[in-house]
Amino acid sequence: MARVMNFNAGPSALPLDALERAQAELLDLNGSGMSVLEHSHRGKVYEAVHNEAVSLVKELLSVPDNYDILFLQGGASQQFAVVPMNLIQAGKSADYVLTGTWSKKAHGEAKGLGTVRVAATTEKDAKFQRIPKQSELELDPNACYAHITSNNTIFGTQWQTFPEVGNVPLVADMSSDIMWRPTDVSKFGLIYAGAQKNLGPSGVTLVIVRKDLVEGGRKDIPKIFQYRTHAAENSLYNTPPTFGIYLLRNVLAVSKQKGGLSAMEQYNRKKAGLLYAAIDSRPDFYRCPVERDSRSTMNVVFNLPTPELEAEFIAESQKKGMVGLKGHRSVGGVRASIYNACEMGWIEGLVEFMGSFKKGA
Ligand SMILES: Cc1ncc(COP(=O)(O)O)c(C=O)c1O
Repeated sequence: MARVMNFNAGPSALPLDALERAQAELLDLNGSGMSVLEHSHRGKVYEAVHNEAVSLVKELLSVPDNYDILFLQGGASQQFAVVPMNLIQAGKSADYVLTGTWSKKAHGEAKGLGTVRVAATTEKDAKFQRIPKQSELELDPNACYAHITSNNTIFGTQWQTFPEVGNVPLVADMSSDIMWRPTDVSKFGLIYAGAQKNLGPSGVTLVIVRKDLVEGGRKDIPKIFQYRTHAAENSLYNTPPTFGIYLLRNVLAVSKQKGGLSAMEQYNRKKAGLLYAAIDSRPDFYRCPVERDSRSTMNVVFNLPTPELEAEFIAESQKKGMVGLKGHRSVGGVRASIYNACEMGWIEGLVEFMGSFKKGA
């Protein structure tokens, strides 16, 4: 079986063990004579999978008891709307820190639903190539929440330490770096993430939300969009994306088996370190546009001297079994997405290719 070196930004590589487990269990899950796809979401067999998925999230991230763990649909983009719908109270506003395309989208959606402020942006002075400093944040101490994007998938920047926001609930879109390392969930009011990078397949969105925010959330919005609806029913208010949750369970079981998130962090830092070192070792040829202290451990972006050379680099890399290295269409360049499931061998393959490409030409 030839597996490629998969650097896709999302959906992206999944751990082989998680896929093989799905393959082995597909036709007959736990002796039930059918696949998870065919089980009722109200039955005991599925229920066990569902609850194991919730437990694994809780265990891996050490989620405190005063948080609900929800599996929702609609992607992170739906949360761009659902967060403000629930949390912006009448007469109050929410703060947004703009660090890239996704935070702009989140802010844009919230703008149509309530009053919002921009607490900081690095667009004008730095083209989103850095994360703002704490001193640059103009936070409203009465805001309903302050929203950040923890990792900017397109620009390749990542918050190294999370901002201090006082008593205001911190809300984070962690779609592209959730569970890349241990995270103190108690610093956040709400965390959301589309599953399709570090957690599993697309179609599931993980939301971790403090119970007081669930309880205090607005009631004048459709029931299906209220967090309390899903929290009260353990995400079984309506039919959940059962296969996606099953696969998320498989992926998280692998993360646990590999030593949990501390081990994940070590592995991820090593991978990113190797790749940035390869970029920095040929400064005349490769250039990472991101400020050093904002560099992402998940999405490594870099440029070659010309767009033509970048196109050639990507075409050549494909011949060597590497996929997904083309930068996002809005920024161009090269991007290696090296999430949890990206293997060290793939990084070594890429680094070797980078070292030899046009060397001495
Ligand atoms: C940081 C971030 N937020 C949000 C999204 C949008 O996610 P979805 O497609 O699940 O709506 C993405 C997609 O790549 C992302 O990287």
